[in-house]
Amino acid sequence: MSGLKLGVLISGSGSNLQAIIDATISQTISSKVVCVISNKEDAFGLTRAEKHGIPTFVVSQKGEAGEQEVINHLQANKVDLVVLAGYLRIIGKDLLEVYKGRIINIHPSLLPKYGGKGYYGLNVHKAVIANNEMTSGATVHYVEEGIDTGETILQRQLDVLENDTPESLQQRILNEIEHPLLVEAIKLLES
Ligand code: GRF
Repeated sequence: MSGLKLGVLISGSGSNLQAIIDATISQTISSKVVCVISNKEDAFGLTRAEKHGIPTFVVSQKGEAGEQEVINHLQANKVDLVVLAGYLRIIGKDLLEVYKGRIINIHPSLLPKYGGKGYYGLNVHKAVIANNEMTSGATVHYVEEGIDTGETILQRQLDVLENDTPESLQQRILNEIEHPLLVEAIKLLES
């Protein structure tokens, strides 16, 4: 697969989305972001997408009806690969069926550690620090029915520093690991 049409799902800041957009501009990857979908209308990632002329869509309904909106939108835009980049909704059976093997997620830990229910956002990094972990990192994986399960595509780690706070660790993992790792994973799937 080369030059994939990417549909990126977000709920917040969209810094990972920005990393993907930047990689398309610099032609580090040959894929293009054809739509950005958010379940939150005030997600800053929507502003990032609009700035680059990328069509955006906000899911208006909850549950299965909302998921059907997502499916319709992805299909209308002929999306090949769905990228979950900070999307805080669980993917249901319908979307998993339609995009089987073509949904990936980025998670800010060394899965299977610190994955699953409750491990999102700062919670992940708080737990890593509370447990005095020496290392942490991020994982890009295929999405299947479980939360944060599914085959790993790429994983990379860094050292947790003695003076790291959950916030500083979160920021370092985002900048040093997540952004390049997600781009690398997409590049891998292009080949
Ligand atoms: C990232 O830490 C990602 O791993 C997780 O949610 C966060 C999203 O950050 N799934 P951003 O919206 O891409 O800045």
